Amino acid sequence: MKISICGKGGSGKSVLTTLLANQALSHALQVLVVDSDESNSGLFRMLGFKEPPVPFMELLGGKRKLKEKMSQKNVLKEDQFSIKDIPSRYLDKRDNLMLVSIGKILQAFEGCACPMGVLSREFLKKLRLNKNEIAFVDMEAGVEHFGRGIDEAIDYVLLVVEPSFESLSIAEKIKGLTSGMDKAVYAILNKIDSEKTAHRLENELKTRGIEIIGTVPMDPLIFEACLEGRVFAEGKAFHAAGKILDSLLAI
Ligand SMILES: Nc1ncnc2c1ncn2[C@@H]1O[C@H](COP(=O)(O)OP(=O)(O)OP(=O)(O)O)[C@@H](O)[C@H]1O
Ligand SMILES: [Mg+2]
Repeated sequence: MKISICGKGGSGKSVLTTLLANQALSHALQVLVVDSDESNSGLFRMLGFKEPPVPFMELLGGKRKLKEKMSQKNVLKEDQFSIKDIPSRYLDKRDNLMLVSIGKILQAFEGCACPMGVLSREFLKKLRLNKNEIAFVDMEAGVEHFGRGIDEAIDYVLLVVEPSFESLSIAEKIKGLTSGMDKAVYAILNKIDSEKTAHRLENELKTRGIEIIGTVPMDPLIFEACLEGRVFAEGKAFHAAGKILDSLLAI
């Protein structure tokens, strides 16, 4: 199962990716987290790794070399590969949890992130998962990844929606963009502080034809852990993510 986590900037994509990945570990699954966000680099810390993995893009000689290969049909020579084929240099690994990062924008004027987009798409398309493996893909904010076809190989698109007009607008846009893709799309309500807020968002999403798979409360534990760069795998938001994963695995 390949699951992408997308939505507005700051809505909680990386938090939800982390919570779901940690919950998946308790289901005895091998969990691969794919960091497909070329801007933010803190996911490794949220997952409890000391250092980020070497970007997968380096396997192809870095961004410049990758850019040269972009006109070719494929940038990766393999037709398909498994998690075990990913060289350990490009993986952070702890027990059954693994993190791979496609590539990051590091310098001023280094150009657009299109090469990373091409690699993310091909990586996800060619990645073959066994029954006991699950992949969570932390997407860049907004909708550009749909334009680049990165979600093509994804089984489930999870849309993180926080209580804001902008977040709802992006959710609506994503729903529209996925309508021609025959994709299962579910919203997760995040940072919910009251039943009233949850009902309001539920109604808003209903009118947009977006199904909700779960609700994650505003949790001070998450807020503090994010502020201090600490790991979080407990509390009410973690518990809510467990229910969401159960629902996903039951589909
Ligand atoms: N359920 C929650 N309870 C409390 N705070 C939360 C919750 N979810 C997210 N946050 C807060 O929102 C902030 C942004 O979350 P996160 O980094 O996951 O967003 P993002 O969508 O990945 O952002 P970006 O688009 O920049 O990658 C966190 O630093 C944290 O303070
Ligand atoms: Mg993020």
